[in-house]
Amino acid sequence: MTAKILNGRPIAEAIKMEIKSEIADLREVHGFAPCLAVVRVGDDPASAVYVGNKLNTTEELGLTSIHHHLPAETKNEELLALVQSLNENDDVDGILVQLPLPTQIDESAILELIDPKKDVDGFHPINVGRLSQGRESLVPCTPAGVIEILKRSGIEIAGSNAVIVGRSNIVGKPMAMLLLQENATVTICHSRTRDLPSIAARADILVAAIGRPGFLRSDHIKDGAAVIDVGINKVSDPSQILELYDGEELEKRLAVIENRGFTLVGDVNKRDAIAKAGAYTPVPGGVGLLTIAMLMRNTVDAAKRRRGID
Ligand code: GUN
Repeated sequence: MTAKILNGRPIAEAIKMEIKSEIADLREVHGFAPCLAVVRVGDDPASAVYVGNKLNTTEELGLTSIHHHLPAETKNEELLALVQSLNENDDVDGILVQLPLPTQIDESAILELIDPKKDVDGFHPINVGRLSQGRESLVPCTPAGVIEILKRSGIEIAGSNAVIVGRSNIVGKPMAMLLLQENATVTICHSRTRDLPSIAARADILVAAIGRPGFLRSDHIKDGAAVIDVGINKVSDPSQILELYDGEELEKRLAVIENRGFTLVGDVNKRDAIAKAGAYTPVPGGVGLLTIAMLMRNTVDAAKRRRGID
């Protein structure tokens, strides 16, 4: 079998267009645009790129935004005070504090202070609890994007065996809750799981979120499975690439390492997935493209709920 490639770009664009027209309606009918506040602390280069992309997307879709960039030495109390002021600012609908935070900051305390109604990352314990009870909540963006890819690609979730490899708070656990809500039979595998390949190989839907380049191979994949690769790993050693790609893509990857020093590789061995799966999300170009679209979705949903608009 040759897997159908599930390209994230057209799905992300379709969602963004839907949100853009919703925002135009909110402006016209209700006279406001949802506002996202983004907070970045320090100078992590990846965070600078992510935050830049998030802010550009707000502009593209017609949301308003507030950006706070604080120095790396910012004290915990200072960041708490900023979050509190954003909680109290009635114009702000969504608050996102970009992770990772510098070590002097108490990450849990910051995330717990964010008003759950404005928690567009869906990381607050109130939203985590609501999600686990199947109640209305703001849902973490990456797993929400996976559900959109599955639904919009016509992949049946209800009744399927879904296996998630990875148990992080940002992806693995909320992914399990969302798939359960969609009536899948859900298994979570992790570093202590016994005989992981045989469990993964029973999956109709296999979600990889472990942070190990090319970790899931042919023996983890059932024939015809939908394989969703959430991993984004930087690989700079050309010998690691030889096992994962061949032909034109191998040439391209080696050239990227030569020019940029690294290439981005998923948690799934792409060659194996294409040979054995029924459908496969590539890295880059798959799930990652949905994350920002879902952040915008959450910001609009938060704005409507806070302001009592259906
Ligand atoms: N850093 C990497 N991914 C994320 C995310 O989804 N949300 C936040 N706040 N920070 C991140």
